[in-house]
Amino acid sequence: MGLRFAFHSPTKILFGRGSLEELGEQVKRLGGKALLVTGRRFARRYGYIGRLTSLMEESGVEVALFDRVEPNPSFETVEEGALTARKTGVDVVVGFGGGSALDAAKAIALLCVQGGRAKDYVYPYVVEEPVLPIVAIPTTCGTGSEVTKFSVLTDVKAKRKTVVAGGPLIPKVAILDPEVLRHLPRDLTVYTALDAFSHAIEAYWSKASQPISDLFALESMKILLKDLEKAAQDVEARDVLHYASLLAGLAINQAGTTVVHAMGYYLTTYHDVHHGLSNAVFLPVAVRLNAPAIPDKVARLADYLGLEYESVEAAARLIEESLARLEDRLGVPRRLGELGVDRSEVEVFVKETLSYRRNIENNPRELTEDDVRSLFMEII
Ligand SMILES: [Fe+2]
Repeated sequence: MGLRFAFHSPTKILFGRGSLEELGEQVKRLGGKALLVTGRRFARRYGYIGRLTSLMEESGVEVALFDRVEPNPSFETVEEGALTARKTGVDVVVGFGGGSALDAAKAIALLCVQGGRAKDYVYPYVVEEPVLPIVAIPTTCGTGSEVTKFSVLTDVKAKRKTVVAGGPLIPKVAILDPEVLRHLPRDLTVYTALDAFSHAIEAYWSKASQPISDLFALESMKILLKDLEKAAQDVEARDVLHYASLLAGLAINQAGTTVVHAMGYYLTTYHDVHHGLSNAVFLPVAVRLNAPAIPDKVARLADYLGLEYESVEAAARLIEESLARLEDRLGVPRRLGELGVDRSEVEVFVKETLSYRRNIENNPRELTEDDVRSLFMEII
Protein backbone atom coordinates (compact mmCIF):
# COMPACT_ATOMS: atom_id res chain seq x y z
CA MET A 1 0.00 0.00 0.00
CA GLY A 2 2.92 2.32 0.69
CA LEU A 3 2.91 5.52 2.64
CA ARG A 4 -0.06 7.77 2.02
CA PHE A 5 -1.40 10.80 3.88
CA ALA A 6 -2.58 14.39 3.56
CA PHE A 7 -1.37 17.15 5.85
CA HIS A 8 -2.76 20.66 5.89
CA SER A 9 -1.86 23.34 8.40
CA PRO A 10 -2.32 26.87 7.11
CA THR A 11 -1.84 28.83 10.36
CA LYS A 12 1.02 31.31 10.73
CA ILE A 13 2.37 30.53 14.20
CA LEU A 14 4.19 33.21 16.20
CA PHE A 15 5.65 31.71 19.36
CA GLY A 16 7.67 33.35 22.10
CA ARG A 17 7.63 35.69 25.06
CA GLY A 18 6.63 39.12 23.87
CA SER A 19 5.06 37.85 20.62
CA LEU A 20 1.80 39.51 21.67
CA GLU A 21 3.39 42.80 20.64
CA GLU A 22 2.95 41.71 17.03
CA LEU A 23 -0.82 41.56 17.32
CA GLY A 24 -1.54 44.97 15.74
CA GLU A 25 0.57 44.36 12.70
CA GLN A 26 -0.86 40.87 12.15
CA VAL A 27 -4.48 41.98 12.48
CA LYS A 28 -3.90 44.98 10.24
CA ARG A 29 -2.96 42.63 7.40
CA LEU A 30 -6.31 40.86 7.69
CA GLY A 31 -8.75 43.73 8.23
CA GLY A 32 -9.43 47.22 9.48
CA LYS A 33 -11.96 46.52 12.22
CA ALA A 34 -11.62 43.70 14.71
CA LEU A 35 -13.99 42.01 17.13
CA LEU A 36 -12.07 41.02 20.26
CA VAL A 37 -13.71 37.88 21.70
CA THR A 38 -12.89 36.94 25.31
CA GLY A 39 -14.34 35.39 28.43
CA ARG A 40 -15.93 37.41 31.20
CA ARG A 41 -13.07 37.72 33.68
CA PHE A 42 -9.50 36.71 32.88
CA ALA A 43 -8.77 39.24 30.10
CA ARG A 44 -10.24 42.13 32.07
CA ARG A 45 -8.70 41.20 35.42
CA TYR A 46 -5.15 41.11 34.05
CA GLY A 47 -5.46 44.23 31.92
CA TYR A 48 -5.40 42.43 28.60
CA ILE A 49 -8.51 44.09 27.16
CA GLY A 50 -6.84 47.49 27.38
CA ARG A 51 -3.50 46.18 26.18
CA LEU A 52 -4.83 44.23 23.19
CA THR A 53 -7.07 47.12 22.19
CA SER A 54 -4.15 49.59 22.30
CA LEU A 55 -1.91 47.24 20.33
CA MET A 56 -4.51 47.06 17.57
CA GLU A 57 -5.44 50.72 17.64
CA GLU A 58 -1.79 51.75 17.41
CA SER A 59 -1.70 49.84 14.12
CA GLY A 60 -4.78 51.68 12.88
CA VAL A 61 -7.27 48.87 13.57
CA GLU A 62 -10.63 49.77 15.09
CA VAL A 63 -11.73 47.44 17.89
CA ALA A 64 -15.15 46.24 19.10
CA LEU A 65 -15.46 43.99 22.15
CA PHE A 66 -17.46 40.86 22.89
CA ASP A 67 -16.45 39.69 26.37
CA ARG A 68 -19.37 37.44 27.26
CA VAL A 69 -18.01 33.96 26.47
CA GLU A 70 -18.71 31.47 29.28
CA PRO A 71 -16.84 28.21 29.87
CA ASN A 72 -18.22 25.64 27.39
CA PRO A 73 -19.87 28.29 25.19
CA SER A 74 -23.49 27.81 24.16
CA PHE A 75 -25.19 28.24 20.79
CA GLU A 76 -26.91 31.34 22.19
CA THR A 77 -23.62 33.00 23.18
CA VAL A 78 -22.01 32.65 19.77
CA GLU A 79 -25.21 33.82 18.07
CA GLU A 80 -25.16 36.89 20.26
CA GLY A 81 -21.48 37.42 19.40
CA ALA A 82 -22.26 37.14 15.70
CA LEU A 83 -24.95 39.77 16.10
CA THR A 84 -22.42 42.13 17.71
CA ALA A 85 -19.98 41.36 14.88
CA ARG A 86 -22.60 42.24 12.25
CA LYS A 87 -23.82 45.38 13.97
CA THR A 88 -20.31 46.73 14.37
CA GLY A 89 -19.27 45.76 10.85
CA VAL A 90 -16.02 44.03 11.79
CA ASP A 91 -13.91 42.24 9.18
CA VAL A 92 -11.60 40.18 11.41
CA VAL A 93 -12.12 38.26 14.67
CA VAL A 94 -9.49 38.05 17.43
CA GLY A 95 -10.02 35.33 20.04
CA PHE A 96 -8.17 35.69 23.35
CA GLY A 97 -8.59 33.08 26.07
CA GLY A 98 -8.85 29.37 26.68
CA GLY A 99 -10.55 26.93 24.33
CA SER A 100 -13.93 28.46 25.06
CA ALA A 101 -13.04 31.96 23.82
CA LEU A 102 -11.18 30.63 20.79
CA ASP A 103 -13.96 28.23 19.82
CA ALA A 104 -16.53 31.00 20.25
CA ALA A 105 -14.42 33.32 18.06
CA LYS A 106 -14.49 30.71 15.29
CA ALA A 107 -18.27 30.23 15.43
CA ILE A 108 -18.78 34.01 15.49
CA ALA A 109 -16.52 34.39 12.43
CA LEU A 110 -18.71 31.83 10.67
CA LEU A 111 -22.16 33.05 11.72
CA CYS A 112 -21.27 36.69 11.07
CA VAL A 113 -20.69 35.96 7.37
CA GLN A 114 -23.06 33.06 6.70
CA GLY A 115 -25.96 33.85 9.01
CA GLY A 116 -28.31 31.17 10.31
CA ARG A 117 -28.20 29.44 13.69
CA ALA A 118 -25.22 27.70 15.27
CA LYS A 119 -27.03 24.36 15.25
CA ASP A 120 -27.31 24.52 11.44
CA TYR A 121 -23.54 23.97 11.20
CA VAL A 122 -23.06 21.17 13.72
CA TYR A 123 -21.12 18.08 12.57
CA PRO A 124 -21.79 15.97 10.42
CA TYR A 125 -22.20 19.26 8.54
CA VAL A 126 -18.79 20.34 7.23
CA VAL A 127 -18.10 24.06 7.00
CA GLU A 128 -16.73 24.96 3.58
CA GLU A 129 -18.10 28.49 3.31
CA PRO A 130 -15.85 31.51 3.82
CA VAL A 131 -15.68 32.98 7.32
CA LEU A 132 -14.06 36.13 8.71
CA PRO A 133 -10.29 35.75 9.20
CA ILE A 134 -9.45 34.62 12.75
CA VAL A 135 -6.46 35.48 14.94
CA ALA A 136 -6.17 33.18 17.97
CA ILE A 137 -4.28 33.90 21.19
CA PRO A 138 -4.47 31.00 23.66
CA THR A 139 -4.13 31.81 27.36
CA THR A 140 -4.19 28.22 28.59
CA CYS A 141 -1.91 25.34 27.70
CA GLY A 142 -4.41 22.79 26.52
CA THR A 143 -6.85 23.73 23.87
CA GLY A 144 -4.82 23.60 20.66
CA SER A 145 -7.79 25.44 19.18
CA GLU A 146 -5.41 28.09 17.80
CA VAL A 147 -4.45 25.69 15.01
CA THR A 148 -7.54 23.50 14.60
CA LYS A 149 -10.65 23.45 12.44
CA PHE A 150 -12.89 22.64 15.41
CA SER A 151 -15.26 24.84 17.40
CA VAL A 152 -16.76 22.91 20.30
CA LEU A 153 -20.11 24.35 21.40
CA THR A 154 -22.59 23.19 23.99
CA ASP A 155 -26.22 22.47 23.21
CA VAL A 156 -27.43 23.43 26.69
CA LYS A 157 -30.99 22.14 26.27
CA ALA A 158 -29.87 18.73 25.01
CA LYS A 159 -26.92 18.58 27.49
CA ARG A 160 -24.57 17.82 24.63
CA LYS A 161 -21.20 18.91 23.40
CA THR A 162 -21.36 19.51 19.68
CA VAL A 163 -18.65 20.35 17.18
CA VAL A 164 -18.69 22.73 14.25
CA ALA A 165 -15.80 21.81 11.98
CA GLY A 166 -14.24 22.79 8.68
CA GLY A 167 -11.05 24.10 7.08
CA PRO A 168 -12.17 27.76 6.92
CA LEU A 169 -12.38 27.81 10.75
CA ILE A 170 -8.63 27.29 11.12
CA PRO A 171 -7.14 30.57 12.41
CA LYS A 172 -5.00 32.54 9.96
CA VAL A 173 -2.61 33.54 12.75
CA ALA A 174 -1.87 32.00 16.15
CA ILE A 175 0.08 34.08 18.65
CA LEU A 176 1.50 32.00 21.50
CA ASP A 177 3.07 34.25 24.09
CA PRO A 178 3.99 32.10 27.11
CA GLU A 179 3.96 35.23 29.30
CA VAL A 180 0.16 34.88 29.49
CA LEU A 181 0.53 31.56 31.32
CA ARG A 182 1.94 33.38 34.37
CA HIS A 183 -1.59 34.30 35.35
CA LEU A 184 -3.01 30.81 34.97
CA PRO A 185 -3.79 29.25 38.36
CA ARG A 186 -1.89 26.07 39.16
CA ASP A 187 -4.91 23.76 38.88
CA LEU A 188 -6.02 25.17 35.53
CA THR A 189 -2.46 24.81 34.27
CA VAL A 190 -2.57 21.13 35.23
CA TYR A 191 -6.06 20.49 33.83
CA THR A 192 -5.45 22.20 30.51
CA ALA A 193 -2.04 20.53 30.10
CA LEU A 194 -3.71 17.16 30.68
CA ASP A 195 -6.26 18.08 28.01
CA ALA A 196 -3.26 18.62 25.73
CA PHE A 197 -1.97 15.18 26.74
CA SER A 198 -5.37 13.71 25.86
CA HIS A 199 -5.20 15.39 22.46
CA ALA A 200 -1.72 14.01 21.86
CA ILE A 201 -2.41 10.40 22.86
CA GLU A 202 -5.81 10.29 21.18
CA ALA A 203 -4.47 11.75 17.93
CA TYR A 204 -1.62 9.23 18.16
CA TRP A 205 -3.83 6.17 18.43
CA SER A 206 -6.71 7.55 16.35
CA LYS A 207 -7.73 5.67 13.22
CA ALA A 208 -7.09 8.91 11.31
CA SER A 209 -3.54 9.27 12.64
CA GLN A 210 -0.74 9.78 10.12
CA PRO A 211 3.05 10.11 10.16
CA ILE A 212 3.33 13.87 10.67
CA SER A 213 0.62 14.13 13.31
CA ASP A 214 2.28 11.17 15.08
CA LEU A 215 5.53 13.13 15.37
CA PHE A 216 3.75 16.09 16.92
CA ALA A 217 1.84 13.81 19.27
CA LEU A 218 4.90 11.86 20.43
CA GLU A 219 6.89 15.01 21.17
CA SER A 220 3.95 16.59 22.97
CA MET A 221 3.51 13.55 25.24
CA LYS A 222 7.23 13.40 26.00
CA ILE A 223 7.37 17.06 27.01
CA LEU A 224 4.26 16.86 29.18
CA LEU A 225 5.34 13.72 31.02
CA LYS A 226 8.75 15.23 31.69
CA ASP A 227 7.94 18.87 32.45
CA LEU A 228 4.34 19.26 33.56
CA GLU A 229 4.95 18.74 37.25
CA LYS A 230 7.67 21.41 37.47
CA ALA A 231 5.83 23.87 35.20
CA ALA A 232 2.66 23.61 37.28
CA GLN A 233 4.59 25.16 40.21
CA ASP A 234 7.02 27.40 38.38
CA VAL A 235 5.51 30.03 36.08
CA GLU A 236 8.93 30.61 34.52
CA ALA A 237 8.95 27.01 33.25
CA ARG A 238 5.66 27.13 31.37
CA ASP A 239 6.90 27.94 27.85
CA VAL A 240 7.20 24.23 27.09
CA LEU A 241 3.57 23.63 28.11
CA HIS A 242 2.43 26.19 25.55
CA TYR A 243 4.58 24.44 22.97
CA ALA A 244 3.32 20.95 23.88
CA SER A 245 -0.26 22.16 23.69
CA LEU A 246 0.36 23.64 20.24
CA LEU A 247 1.89 20.36 19.02
CA ALA A 248 -1.08 18.41 20.34
CA GLY A 249 -3.43 20.85 18.57
CA LEU A 250 -1.60 20.31 15.27
CA ALA A 251 -1.99 16.56 15.84
CA ILE A 252 -5.76 16.57 16.53
CA ASN A 253 -6.36 18.90 13.63
CA GLN A 254 -5.34 15.98 11.39
CA ALA A 255 -6.36 13.00 13.48
CA GLY A 256 -9.22 14.07 15.80
CA THR A 257 -9.98 12.75 19.27
CA THR A 258 -11.38 9.41 20.45
CA VAL A 259 -12.97 7.67 23.41
CA VAL A 260 -11.33 9.80 26.14
CA HIS A 261 -13.04 12.95 24.89
CA ALA A 262 -16.32 11.07 24.38
CA MET A 263 -16.27 9.95 28.05
CA GLY A 264 -15.02 13.33 29.27
CA TYR A 265 -17.95 15.14 27.65
CA TYR A 266 -20.29 13.32 30.03
CA LEU A 267 -18.51 14.71 33.12
CA THR A 268 -18.58 18.25 31.75
CA THR A 269 -22.22 18.27 30.62
CA TYR A 270 -23.64 16.30 33.59
CA HIS A 271 -21.32 17.33 36.43
CA ASP A 272 -19.78 20.60 35.28
CA VAL A 273 -16.27 19.17 35.60
CA HIS A 274 -13.50 21.11 33.79
CA HIS A 275 -12.89 19.71 30.29
CA GLY A 276 -9.24 18.90 30.95
CA LEU A 277 -9.93 17.20 34.27
CA SER A 278 -12.82 15.29 32.67
CA ASN A 279 -10.39 13.74 30.21
CA ALA A 280 -7.59 13.26 32.73
CA VAL A 281 -9.59 10.93 34.96
CA PHE A 282 -9.96 8.48 32.05
CA LEU A 283 -6.44 8.65 30.63
CA PRO A 284 -4.67 5.79 32.43
CA VAL A 285 -7.55 3.31 31.98
CA ALA A 286 -7.97 4.32 28.34
CA VAL A 287 -4.37 3.28 27.72
CA ARG A 288 -5.22 -0.16 29.13
CA LEU A 289 -8.40 -0.30 27.03
CA ASN A 290 -6.81 0.60 23.71
CA ALA A 291 -3.31 -0.87 24.02
CA PRO A 292 -4.21 -4.38 22.73
CA ALA A 293 -5.47 -2.83 19.47
CA ILE A 294 -2.29 -0.85 18.76
CA PRO A 295 0.79 -2.94 19.73
CA ASP A 296 3.16 -1.19 17.30
CA LYS A 297 2.14 2.24 18.51
CA VAL A 298 2.53 1.22 22.14
CA ALA A 299 6.06 0.00 21.49
CA ARG A 300 6.99 3.16 19.57
CA LEU A 301 5.63 5.41 22.30
CA ALA A 302 7.47 3.47 25.00
CA ASP A 303 10.70 3.73 22.98
CA TYR A 304 10.16 7.44 22.45
CA LEU A 305 9.67 7.94 26.16
CA GLY A 306 12.81 5.95 26.91
CA LEU A 307 10.99 3.20 28.83
CA GLU A 308 12.57 -0.22 29.10
CA TYR A 309 10.23 -3.17 28.62
CA GLU A 310 10.25 -6.86 27.80
CA SER A 311 6.96 -7.20 25.98
CA VAL A 312 4.37 -4.91 24.42
CA GLU A 313 2.03 -5.72 27.31
CA ALA A 314 4.70 -4.58 29.74
CA ALA A 315 5.24 -1.40 27.69
CA ALA A 316 1.52 -0.59 27.87
CA ARG A 317 1.56 -1.12 31.63
CA LEU A 318 4.55 1.20 32.00
CA ILE A 319 2.84 3.94 29.99
CA GLU A 320 -0.35 3.56 32.01
CA GLU A 321 1.66 3.67 35.25
CA SER A 322 3.66 6.74 34.22
CA LEU A 323 0.41 8.57 33.59
CA ALA A 324 -1.25 7.37 36.78
CA ARG A 325 1.82 8.30 38.86
CA LEU A 326 2.00 11.73 37.25
CA GLU A 327 -1.67 12.35 38.00
CA ASP A 328 -1.21 11.17 41.60
CA ARG A 329 1.74 13.52 42.10
CA LEU A 330 -0.31 16.36 40.64
CA GLY A 331 -3.24 15.54 42.92
CA VAL A 332 -5.58 14.81 40.00
CA PRO A 333 -8.46 12.48 40.91
CA ARG A 334 -8.48 9.11 39.20
CA ARG A 335 -11.84 7.95 40.52
CA LEU A 336 -15.21 9.12 39.24
CA GLY A 337 -16.66 9.17 42.75
CA GLU A 338 -14.28 12.00 43.64
CA LEU A 339 -15.91 14.09 40.91
CA GLY A 340 -19.42 13.58 42.24
CA VAL A 341 -20.40 10.68 39.98
CA ASP A 342 -22.59 7.92 41.41
CA ARG A 343 -22.67 4.23 40.46
CA SER A 344 -26.33 4.58 39.47
CA GLU A 345 -25.31 6.75 36.51
CA VAL A 346 -23.58 3.92 34.69
CA GLU A 347 -26.22 3.32 32.00
CA VAL A 348 -26.57 7.01 31.16
CA PHE A 349 -22.79 7.25 31.00
CA VAL A 350 -22.58 4.31 28.60
CA LYS A 351 -25.32 5.67 26.36
CA GLU A 352 -23.90 9.20 26.30
CA THR A 353 -20.34 8.04 25.65
CA LEU A 354 -21.31 5.86 22.71
CA SER A 355 -23.50 8.62 21.28
CA TYR A 356 -20.41 10.70 20.45
CA ARG A 357 -20.07 8.76 17.20
CA ARG A 358 -17.35 10.94 15.68
CA ASN A 359 -15.00 10.17 18.59
CA ILE A 360 -16.03 6.55 19.01
CA GLU A 361 -15.61 5.69 15.33
CA ASN A 362 -12.15 7.23 15.46
CA ASN A 363 -11.10 4.99 18.36
CA PRO A 364 -8.60 2.27 17.40
CA ARG A 365 -10.54 -0.40 19.24
CA GLU A 366 -14.18 -1.12 18.50
CA LEU A 367 -16.13 -0.39 21.68
CA THR A 368 -19.17 -2.21 22.99
CA GLU A 369 -21.53 -1.14 25.75
CA ASP A 370 -19.83 -3.73 27.96
CA ASP A 371 -16.38 -2.21 27.38
CA VAL A 372 -17.56 1.24 28.45
CA ARG A 373 -19.59 -0.15 31.36
CA SER A 374 -16.67 -2.11 32.80
CA LEU A 375 -14.35 0.85 32.44
CA PHE A 376 -16.82 2.97 34.41
CA MET A 377 -17.17 0.31 37.13
CA GLU A 378 -13.41 0.01 37.37
CA ILE A 379 -12.87 3.65 38.27
CA ILE A 380 -16.09 4.60 40.05
FE1 LIG B 1 -9.90 18.70 24.57
